[in-house]
Amino acid sequence: MLPTSLKTMQADNAAIKTAVSLLQQGRLVAFPTETVYGLGADANNPEAVRRIFAAKGRPVDHPLIVHIPDLACLSQWAQNIPDAAHHLAAHFWPGPLAIILSKQPGVPLEVTGGQTTVGLRLPNHPVALQLLQAFGGGIAAPSANRFCRISPTQASHVAEELGNAVDLILEGGSCQVGVESTIIDLSGLHPQLLRPGHISRAALEAVLGERVLVSAPTQVRTSGMMAVHYAPATRALLCPAALLPEHYRQLSGQGKKIGLMVLQRLADTAPAAQILMPTDADLYAQALYASLRKLDTLCLDIILIEQPPDHDGWQAIHDRLGKASSRL
Ligand code: TXA
Ligand code: MG
Repeated sequence: MLPTSLKTMQADNAAIKTAVSLLQQGRLVAFPTETVYGLGADANNPEAVRRIFAAKGRPVDHPLIVHIPDLACLSQWAQNIPDAAHHLAAHFWPGPLAIILSKQPGVPLEVTGGQTTVGLRLPNHPVALQLLQAFGGGIAAPSANRFCRISPTQASHVAEELGNAVDLILEGGSCQVGVESTIIDLSGLHPQLLRPGHISRAALEAVLGERVLVSAPTQVRTSGMMAVHYAPATRALLCPAALLPEHYRQLSGQGKKIGLMVLQRLADTAPAAQILMPTDADLYAQALYASLRKLDTLCLDIILIEQPPDHDGWQAIHDRLGKASSRL
């Protein structure tokens, strides 16, 4: 069901006040961050946190990230904090990095999906920061989409995804980064990358002065570890640029209604829809989810996605495209 406009408020001071009061009552507030919109609840209120899982249709053992208002709060949520965490936080926070640490005993297991670790992030978005500071506590917030669907990068996406399941959506424009935060696990012996994001593994290694391993799949449910995630409902196929024209011809010969997400226009074709994507990795990431979402509304048979380049800076995009599509 589509949203009532009452649900979405421009994120001014009055809206922040309303949002804080809703959070204090255990209700759900969606808010913009620099990565994607989050679906927030008071992280210290297990009942409120359970509402997040119900609204998203997310399995309860899939842990949430707790968003904190400042660096000083780190020790309220985590214990045995290694120096590495302080270094990364000092360097990248506020910013698109979530750090997994050993949790303080008081952190509700509802938040951590039963884990003894907790994911923490200080986001870099004026609305998120204003909300966190006004609330004065931790806000548990996964991406504000239904489980396994595309993350929202605009307030209207949240409304489309969650409708009445969310009590308030703070309108804060389009998200700058456009893909979810980098997740690094510092709770073990060695730093492990659980999800690639805007902050690259190389950037983390440069600050840490040590190797960051890429985590093998574990028992813990992490979107970064799941094969299908961030996916449109329409079948999507990732296709090397060189094979795209031939594949397009084959599929259109079969009468398929095709959408294209390409870096270069496909000549001599009349696709049902064609989105020309930016060739800069940061701009591509910014546009990625809105583009997939747009193509997904067009009742297409298939979305053909041109495989982007393989250089540094494209890792998070490859990760998300890999999960949104199958490969040719
Ligand atoms: O950019 C982001 O991180 C956005 C914005 C809203 O902050 N949030 C986000 O949350 O992407 P979510 O829940 O959609 O993805 C967070 C991921 C999940 O896959 C979860 O499994 C993982 O973080 N995670 C959270 N706590 C964890 C923990 N203790 N151990 C392992 N993975 C954890
Ligand atoms: Mg998510």
